[in-house]
Amino acid sequence: MSDSVAAPSRRRRVTPQSLLQGSGVLWFTIAAAGQWLFTYYILGAYIPRTASGDYSRWNETGLIEGYVQGDWLGNLGFISHVLLAALVSAAGVIQLLPMIRRKFPAFHRWTGRAYISVAVFLAIGGILLIWVRGTRLNDWAALGTTIDGLLILVTATFTLRHAMARRIDLHRRWAMRLFVVVSGVWFIRVAYMAWAIASGGAGMRRTLDGPTDILVPYLAFLVPLIVLEVYQKARDSRSAPFKLGVAGLILVCGGITALGLFGAWMMMWSPNILI
Ligand code: HEM
Repeated sequence: MSDSVAAPSRRRRVTPQSLLQGSGVLWFTIAAAGQWLFTYYILGAYIPRTASGDYSRWNETGLIEGYVQGDWLGNLGFISHVLLAALVSAAGVIQLLPMIRRKFPAFHRWTGRAYISVAVFLAIGGILLIWVRGTRLNDWAALGTTIDGLLILVTATFTLRHAMARRIDLHRRWAMRLFVVVSGVWFIRVAYMAWAIASGGAGMRRTLDGPTDILVPYLAFLVPLIVLEVYQKARDSRSAPFKLGVAGLILVCGGITALGLFGAWMMMWSPNILI
């Protein structure tokens, strides 16, 4: 008797909240696969070229400025930026997995410290590459990526401070913002390719100074940050229509992300992988 009464409450019911969470999980799964593909590209493209000793081959991947003869400091800064980028791309998704956080809290703490340190190194290094080494084709587009780098520093500080003060809910919210801005350069590639496929390249130029080329570095962190805030609001809200509307929005975002990833993999990443 008690079993038959208890059984329905144990069964998973489809509610606006569960649909919202399901859409979030679906988007995150697509993004995780995409971040690991990006990691595979970075390792598969740069490790064999670096190991060959002919560092000028870094430039085969279509960079603005990778290897420059005689600039050993800039070359070292570039390759450490690229190889550490593989680490954050692979680790970010693992860091956000609730199961890992719950089951291995000590692991989560240590990888979290490493993730934040590397993200800060990448942001400062990236800003130096742009403005000190001069790796930019266009000041406006470069400013967009620079703002993303500054947001990495801000969100990393809040994520760490809330974690140290054991304000776990705030820490979780800031960690998601940090993940979004650290993924900013990944979003640039995904957004760029999704737009190129959907519009046939409207507003894009080979010299990367078309209106789309300038807007994408800004939209690539602004849009995901806004969508994340709307998603958090919907999770906290009691309104079923709001939750369902946001679940639909996240599904659309999942479709756009998948399209952009397909394009990035086919046109930017897989042709440059040597292993
Ligand atoms: C935090 C996450 C970041 C990741 C995962 C990342 C990833 C990468 C990768 C993979 C490359 C090599 C280019 C390629 O093969 O596609 C690269 C280059 C570069 N990154 Fe980052 N990056 C990050 C952050 C930043 C930030 C915040 C900035 C600037 C503020 C930045 C500026 C640059 C610059 C200037 C280059 C050289 C691009 C070129 O020569 O064409 N990066 N980054």
